[in-house]
Amino acid sequence: MSRPLRALIGPSILNSDLSKLYEESQKLLDNGADYLHLDVMDGHFVPNLTFGHPVVKCLRSKIKEAFFETHMMVSNPEQWIAPMADAGVDQYTFHIEPVPDIEKVCRKIKESGMKVGLALKPGTPLSDVEKYISIADMVLIMTVEPGFGGQKFMENQMPKVQWLREHYPSLNIEVDGGVGPSTIECCAKAGANMIVSGTAVIGAQDQAATIKLLRDTVQKSIQ
Ligand code: DX5
Ligand code: ZN
Repeated sequence: MSRPLRALIGPSILNSDLSKLYEESQKLLDNGADYLHLDVMDGHFVPNLTFGHPVVKCLRSKIKEAFFETHMMVSNPEQWIAPMADAGVDQYTFHIEPVPDIEKVCRKIKESGMKVGLALKPGTPLSDVEKYISIADMVLIMTVEPGFGGQKFMENQMPKVQWLREHYPSLNIEVDGGVGPSTIECCAKAGANMIVSGTAVIGAQDQAATIKLLRDTVQKSIQ
């Protein structure tokens, strides 16, 4: 049985002041974030490094309730499943591009008690992910090349979102990269319901109003 789709806003803390990770995260939640999108980069799959499970575990020790999604931009996602589950992650979203046995990784994530997200770089066609959609909880369509916050939104990824929504009406579809007040309409119309927003939320004068605007725009499209 499929549940009704919800508009969910998950700010990315990548471009926040990481020396205050807890304070920045708590502030986002107090301002209405539905979940936290934690960008994990290994310097191999993407040309940038962020943080790993020890940092996520520390954050979890201070924030007990919030839904944590880790966006694993790593070459070997299988390696980090157990430590991330132990750190208290709720959803493990990994890039399918470097993975030889996607089904096995999905199974291990589920066995460890986390939800599964499948992420696609802009150049990756939907045909690469289609046969795994039934075993996933979410598909992430990247709207920038993964690696850095603050890049320009790629509108040419919207046909992928549209196609997914048409064929999978109750699937959670996430967009990530360059999403904010000026691009949310486009994402909402295409059918995305889980919205990652970094720079636009972190740098907003009024975080709560920006998060609400994003959520309201998506919610209107869903109805
Ligand atoms: C990019 C990351 C994104 C990014 C979002 O590789 O996956 O989550 O930080 O930040 P903005 O919204 O600034 O593009
Ligand atoms: Zn991300």
